[in-house]
Amino acid sequence: MQSASLLFSAAKRLEGKVALITGAASGIGKATAKLFAHHGARIVIADVQDEKGHPLCSALGPSVASYDHCDVTNESDVQQAVDATVSHHGKLDVMFNNAGMIGEPCLRLLESEKSDFERVVATNLVGSYLGTKHAARAMLPQRRGSIGITASVASVIASMTLVAYTCSKHAFLGLMKSAALELGRFGIRVNCVSPYALPTPLAMEFGMGEEELSANMEEHATLKGVRLKAEDVTEAVVYLASDESRYLNGLNLLVDGGFSTGKPSHGLFRYSIPDNM
Ligand SMILES: NC(=O)c1ccc[n+]([C@@H]2O[C@H](COP(=O)([O-])OP(=O)(O)OC[C@H]3O[C@@H](n4cnc5c(N)ncnc54)[C@H](O)[C@@H]3O)[C@@H](O)[C@H]2O)c1
Repeated sequence: MQSASLLFSAAKRLEGKVALITGAASGIGKATAKLFAHHGARIVIADVQDEKGHPLCSALGPSVASYDHCDVTNESDVQQAVDATVSHHGKLDVMFNNAGMIGEPCLRLLESEKSDFERVVATNLVGSYLGTKHAARAMLPQRRGSIGITASVASVIASMTLVAYTCSKHAFLGLMKSAALELGRFGIRVNCVSPYALPTPLAMEFGMGEEELSANMEEHATLKGVRLKAEDVTEAVVYLASDESRYLNGLNLLVDGGFSTGKPSHGLFRYSIPDNM
């Protein structure tokens, strides 16, 4: 049996791998691109925010990162991003479908328009469907690869104020599981990472300040004494992208401190745990 130390000893956990990350000009995608680079991967950053994507690539270095303007709702853009990655680097090992939006005008069911709903679903769900499909096509010849999707705690719990977002993130699980079943026989793994809230531009659309958002999340978290950081999410993504998770397929990895597990106060019986235990 191969020893665990042999499997996990490499300091550079993504050495030699080629990754394509959508929505990597900002937030979670950007932080992931930096950690991927730290671990030895070559990265293609795909986004619509060219003014943020180009400087990020310059900072990471031209031999490490390149930028591709890609609107994930547009199939030819996604196909072109995958093809350009393969023609430039010779292969694609990791696809991270991360681009997403909340859809501010579409917060509540009764106030939303069909077009608002469709816009959120097009970016989140259709974008990840296209990324998964075209990445799988590119990974097939090498009979291996890791496809990740940034879902959310909204993939497993609902919220009254995020109808389109919740629908799209719940649907990710169907996409991820279907793709995991279909592609597993070709050695291609498909998993989701589902963070709780982080103060990125997307989350700032809730209208709270950074500190207020973090404090609010901490108050409602199950796990006390820890605040979610971007590193908690990006480390999970590196794990899913690396060979350390080589036997994981069809997993929704919730990085939420147990938030979606339930509420300690929602028992059927009155029961309180003393704070001083
Ligand atoms: N921040 C959170 O609290 C949180 C929690 C759970 C899940 N998520 C998910 O994480 C992912 C990343 O979001 P973030 O929080 O880093 O926000 P962000 O706004 O910092 O990043 C989102 C990125 O996606 C890009 N993008 C949007 N539409 C696109 C399109 N059509 N084509 C290409 N790129 C597009 C944006 O330009 C941006 O760079 C999203 O899928 C989001 O739903 C975020």
